[in-house]
Amino acid sequence: VKLRVSETVGAASSPHMYGVMFEDINYSGDGGLYAELIRNRAFQGTTSVSPFTAVGGAKVATVTTTPLSSALPRSMTVTGGSGTVGFSNPGWWGIDIKVQPYTGSFYVRGDYTGTFKASFQSATGEVLGSVEIASASTASGWTQHNFTLIPSKAAGDSKNTFTVTYDAAGVKGGSLNFNLISVFPPTFKNRPNGLRRDLMGALAELNPSLLRFPGGNNMEGQSPPNHWKWQNTIGPLKDRPGRQGTWNYPNTDGLGLVEYMQWCEDLNLEPLLATFAGLYLGKNVIAQNALQPYVDDFMNELEFLMGDTSTKYGALRASLGYPTPWKVNFVEVGNEDDLNNGKDSYNSYRYKMFYNAIKAKYPNMTIIASFETTMSGLPADAAKDYHTYNQPNKMINDFTKFDRYDRAHKVIVGEYANINKDSAKDMWANRPLYPWWRGSVAEAVLAIGAERNGDVVIGLTYAPLFCNLNANQWVPDLIAYNADPSQTVLSTSHAVIKLLSNTRITNLLSTTGSDPPKPLYYAAGINSKTGSRILKAAVYESRAAVPVTVTFTGVTAGTTATLKILTAPNENSNNAVGAASVVQTVAQTLTAAADGSFTYSLPDMSVSVLEVKAA
Ligand code: AHR
Repeated sequence: VKLRVSETVGAASSPHMYGVMFEDINYSGDGGLYAELIRNRAFQGTTSVSPFTAVGGAKVATVTTTPLSSALPRSMTVTGGSGTVGFSNPGWWGIDIKVQPYTGSFYVRGDYTGTFKASFQSATGEVLGSVEIASASTASGWTQHNFTLIPSKAAGDSKNTFTVTYDAAGVKGGSLNFNLISVFPPTFKNRPNGLRRDLMGALAELNPSLLRFPGGNNMEGQSPPNHWKWQNTIGPLKDRPGRQGTWNYPNTDGLGLVEYMQWCEDLNLEPLLATFAGLYLGKNVIAQNALQPYVDDFMNELEFLMGDTSTKYGALRASLGYPTPWKVNFVEVGNEDDLNNGKDSYNSYRYKMFYNAIKAKYPNMTIIASFETTMSGLPADAAKDYHTYNQPNKMINDFTKFDRYDRAHKVIVGEYANINKDSAKDMWANRPLYPWWRGSVAEAVLAIGAERNGDVVIGLTYAPLFCNLNANQWVPDLIAYNADPSQTVLSTSHAVIKLLSNTRITNLLSTTGSDPPKPLYYAAGINSKTGSRILKAAVYESRAAVPVTVTFTGVTAGTTATLKILTAPNENSNNAVGAASVVQTVAQTLTAAADGSFTYSLPDMSVSVLEVKAA
């Protein structure tokens, strides 16, 4: 393959090309990124006390007498027993214990004189650390007890429990009620109520620039009134009721709207905020004459985020401790509203009602329609969302999709992934747990196809992002984990996105020579901040190494370039828990020949980035 890359700086490419998409699926919020260690901490969406168990002959059960708050009507009563009694919680399929400060609290109601002991214990009952908390509990109201627990010893594995005990002899009235039992390890950037450090680190490696949230199907909800509601996700945890998520488990909403914005701040991400648009997954559609309150509600959400403190919801934000407004430039109206009988209503009134209201107040906002085949007459500045779950041989056909794209509207690839092998007759059935190399290379083909059209493509976000290996609803996923951070699996697709995203193209450069796609799927550009010229390429099924000679007009003999190539030993290889990454990275330094060209060889099924640094 011989290529000549023009030095004429072309169209600006989107600064948001590589992003992440998040919804609570696969225990990716609760039990995942949200760093809370206690499962079922406030008995939201369940009458079950599980996985809490009683300690010392006591009994535990949920009760609705004397609610902690209107949001948290249920609590756990601990009754009976003698001597040391209490309760224990095994976390989200385990708790990682290190010698570091854990911050915790619980509410108690009941007449108790004495101390509580909060401790971590191993599977064999060894106490890894404990702290005593003087009781301030009374029968007349709920009292929050706070503590910091620094274990004296790290655990050998994550099969540990958190336990609260006390002396039954000090209890008058036979029982104590507990609620909002919470323990956090140190979080990313030490945010209170924050996010897991290791998983945020895995995201930071991707150098992302966009966060699409809060869904996905989870935002839509299965049936009324279970869509994601921003007001229920803000403020003190005791005022957050949680909700029945779409993916068959309750959401605590501890990871709420403010926490999403802080996540954006901490990783320097552009928020892409999606709103429920009147369609439930169970096919209920809000009628036109009933939709306005939902539109108003989203406008209130935007005011909460962006309004100054003279506005009602801006003042609410400030009252919660966030006086400085955030900025939202991208919103999405719904999610996949062409499905579940939603298309006609979306096209006839749902999108437009949201668009008109948002545009009137925020004229510069990009308002994304949630599927591609939206109505004719889509407002000129509206964008669209393309989702593709596919198989590698089919996904590569999307390489030229955006070359041919109608430039009338921008587009985001809001969800993409290869979800099954080419051999699978039904790609939805029996899917692999982890992304595998062939699929990841085909995703690179899609990404590079999008990037060579960065004038129209806003960006790409792989989905789903996270997967708890103990309980999940959708595989494969970009990052899989359990309670033990040392076992986190950064998939082959993670490696590909990391490579492509860490060298950013700001402007496209036109290319002459061999036409893509086969055998080299490529995009050329320049980073106008660094002056680097860049060629990103995937080789997909060439059956032999591809010799490449690329000449960047204006680059002189002797100029050096770095070439990074990713390969894997086998196209079916995948990363898995407990094993080293199968992805091999080769880094080379190349020197331009007398005519300014670089010559190198790319193996079949490889993804590469050539960066010619400015002289
Ligand atoms: O990513 C999993 C699901 O796929 C999303 O919730 C939905 O938007 C899509 O159908």
